[in-house]
Amino acid sequence: MNVLIVVESMFGNTRAVADAVAEGLRAGGAAVVVGDVTEVPPAVPHGTDLLVVGGPTHAFSMTRESTRTDALSKAHAENSGAKAATGIREWIAAATPDQVRVVTFDTRVKKAFIPGSAAKSAAKSLAEHGFTHAERGETFWVADTPGPLVDGELERAQEWGRSLTA
Ligand SMILES: Cc1cc2nc3c(=O)[nH]c(=O)nc-3n(C[C@H](O)[C@H](O)[C@H](O)COP(=O)(O)O)c2cc1C
Repeated sequence: MNVLIVVESMFGNTRAVADAVAEGLRAGGAAVVVGDVTEVPPAVPHGTDLLVVGGPTHAFSMTRESTRTDALSKAHAENSGAKAATGIREWIAAATPDQVRVVTFDTRVKKAFIPGSAAKSAAKSLAEHGFTHAERGETFWVADTPGPLVDGELERAQEWGRSLTA
C-alpha cells in the first residue's frame, strides 16, 4: 500500500501528528511519504493507494493566507513566505482531481465548544474539486494555539494510521 501524506503546519503540531500517522501506517505494512504542503506537486503520483491530507483549523475551517500570516508571526517558522502563500486550501484548489481514496485530518484546540474543523472543510472541498473518494478523518487536539498536543494524541495518531491500512 502506497500512501502520500500532505501536511500543513505552522507550529509543528500537525506535522508531528502526520509523522505519527506515518509510523502507524508503516507498522501496518504501508510505504509512506510525508510532504509539506508547500512542496508537494499538484498531481497525486501514479500508484498511490491512499492520500492523507492534514492541516490546522484556523477560524473554524482550513487556514487562509491572513490566518497563516497571523500564526507565522507568532511561530518563528522557517520558510515563512511559502507557508504564508500555501496551505491545504490552496493545495486542494490547485490539485489534479483524482479517484484515489483520500482521508483528511486536522488539529484544533480542545476548548469547551469551538465549532469548525479543517478536516471537515478539506473533505468537502476535495469532493467539490473532483476527488470522488474523499472522507473526513480524525481531529487531534492541541492544548492551546501553539500547542502542545494533548497527552496521548501522538499515540492515537499512530493507532489511527495503522487502522487506515485495514
Ligand atoms: C489565526 C488562528 C486561528 C485559529 N482558529 C482556531 C479555531 O477556529 N478553532 C480551533 O480549534 N483552533 C484554532 N486555532 C488554533 C489552531 O488550530 C492551532 O494553532 C493548530 O492546531 C496548531 O497546529 P500547528 O502547530 O500544526 O500549526 C487558530 C490558530 C490561529 C493561529
